[in-house]
Amino acid sequence: MAAKKDDGTDPEQGIWSRRSFLSMAGWGAVLSSLGIGTLAWGRMMYPRVLFEEQMAYKVGFPNEYAPNKVSDKWIKAYRFWLIRTPDRFIALSAVCTHLGCTPRYLATEDKFKCPCHGSGFRGLQSGVAGLNFEGPAPRPLERFKITLAEDGQIFIDKSVVFRQDKGEWDEPGASLSYIA
Ligand code: FES
Repeated sequence: MAAKKDDGTDPEQGIWSRRSFLSMAGWGAVLSSLGIGTLAWGRMMYPRVLFEEQMAYKVGFPNEYAPNKVSDKWIKAYRFWLIRTPDRFIALSAVCTHLGCTPRYLATEDKFKCPCHGSGFRGLQSGVAGLNFEGPAPRPLERFKITLAEDGQIFIDKSVVFRQDKGEWDEPGASLSYIA
């Protein structure tokens, strides 16, 4: 066995004596577990979750809505009016086509009026609910796809939009034909 040098290092093991190697390995383990812990904490604090808006809803049975009425039941939750004319249902978007404010339905004047810059859209009795006629809005309000679900409830799909200025209001799904 070789004698130790004056500085105490073992010539057979060089400067990496067994003790210093074990000490370094220990520190490595501590640091890597700290790193893993930090990563786990980061994942916990910032989970990779996508918060996607729900786009389709069942909104009850047709006979729950009075004929010739604009229902604002879904304005707060889903931002559309459910309109029942004498022979059909329409899901009309409550997003102003000017800059996106939420208009109000004024029943006495039968129109949708935007509080931000004064755009007005035709109401139920006009036969063209949502058509822009005053203010800066460049086009009518949009309609959402409306059908009947298998269980007979009205089904709204906001991912499918119908625009009057593109001639889409007469397409299937732009309104739901219904006579009680
Ligand atoms: S956002 Fe409606 S008129 Fe401007």
